[in-house]
Amino acid sequence: MQSIQSTDYFVHFQDEAYKSLRNYLNENHHSKVFILVDTNTEKYCLSGFLDRAQIDENFEVIQIQAGEEFKHIVTCNYLWNTLSEKGADRKSLMINLGGGVITDMGGFVASTFKRGIKFINIPTTLLSMVDASVGGKTGVDLGVLKNQIGLFSNPEMVLVDMKFLKTVSDREMRSGLAEIIKYGFTFDKELWDTIKVFTKIDLDKINHLVHRSVEIKNEVVLKDLLENNLRKSLNFGHTIGHAIESYFLESEDKQNLTHGEAIAAGMVIELFYSSKVFDFPLSLTESLRSFVMDFYGPVELESKDFGAIVDLMKFDKKNVSGKVNFVLLDAIENCKLDIQLSPELIEEGLRYYQKGLA
Ligand SMILES: NC(=O)c1ccc[n+]([C@@H]2O[C@H](COP(=O)([O-])OP(=O)(O)OC[C@H]3O[C@@H](n4cnc5c(N)ncnc54)[C@H](O)[C@@H]3O)[C@@H](O)[C@H]2O)c1
Ligand SMILES: [Zn+2]
Repeated sequence: MQSIQSTDYFVHFQDEAYKSLRNYLNENHHSKVFILVDTNTEKYCLSGFLDRAQIDENFEVIQIQAGEEFKHIVTCNYLWNTLSEKGADRKSLMINLGGGVITDMGGFVASTFKRGIKFINIPTTLLSMVDASVGGKTGVDLGVLKNQIGLFSNPEMVLVDMKFLKTVSDREMRSGLAEIIKYGFTFDKELWDTIKVFTKIDLDKINHLVHRSVEIKNEVVLKDLLENNLRKSLNFGHTIGHAIESYFLESEDKQNLTHGEAIAAGMVIELFYSSKVFDFPLSLTESLRSFVMDFYGPVELESKDFGAIVDLMKFDKKNVSGKVNFVLLDAIENCKLDIQLSPELIEEGLRYYQKGLA
């Protein structure tokens, strides 16, 4: 599978990934290598990685608890302290072996430790392969507010080994698929055409879906690294989706959603706005809604939740001067950026998600 060149680093796939890693380690002398894992990637991914990577360097494993609720500055503090205690210096390398929480937070910790040490991302979930590990965004949450603290910082390389997906739960696989659906609507209709007939995730098709998704994300990032315009398209589904995700994270009586579950709901709602504002074909909005309801199951939104969800959108990073900005579509593969909506329409979208057109 063809490697993909990003700004100043490559994304390598499958066997090529390990060859590139060994070459890189041989060519660059690191004082120490730190492998960051969470409790699940230590259990399911670490030994396979060590077998396939054959690292000769002096390395140490640093482990943290799994879960979005640990993607937080308190965990960073623990990681900076651990690096310091274990003698990390500016010639040390961090390998982030895990899902989006590990690649986002590991990248942030590495980029800020002693003004920055080098890091490599090895994504182990579908979501982190197709989205989080590529593009240079690193960071952590602030309370329940998603990704508020962080910086743009590129890894030395990203290594995608799809063997890691074997142990990823169905729920987490569906979470990653939501980002591929996002690429389908915003940049490549064929992706949506492939996925819309899935009743479960078809592993035979996953290699192509992953490679194509990385290609799309990378093309967008290369054109607009700092998200001044085109890259905003990749936030389709995320304005309302992040607010729903945060709301479920902070509500004690609600079970946490995966990122993809929230974004799938967010895309349905934002397509509804697209149909209302730009005449985006309602039949396509309806087909996404029915796919999302069947495949992900409904997110239990009640009318009493709407106000708090709308309030949470005030913290969205795309907002400027207090205005909430949406990414909508006027056709498949055609995004409209920085769109503002009335509070009435925002609520109507939430009701549409809940009840359909009735
Ligand atoms: N930086 C970006 O551009 C970007 C883009 C999209 C999402 N994100 C971030 O990514 C995060 C979501 O990523 P995620 O869904 O990978 O979350 P995650 O890292 O929490 O992984 C999901 C779960 O799967 C487990 N896991 C990981 N690999 C496994 C494996 N191979 N086998 C079994 N279990 C495994 C993890 O321990 C965790 O419990 C969010 O914090 C989101 O904000 C960042
Ligand atoms: Zn996302």
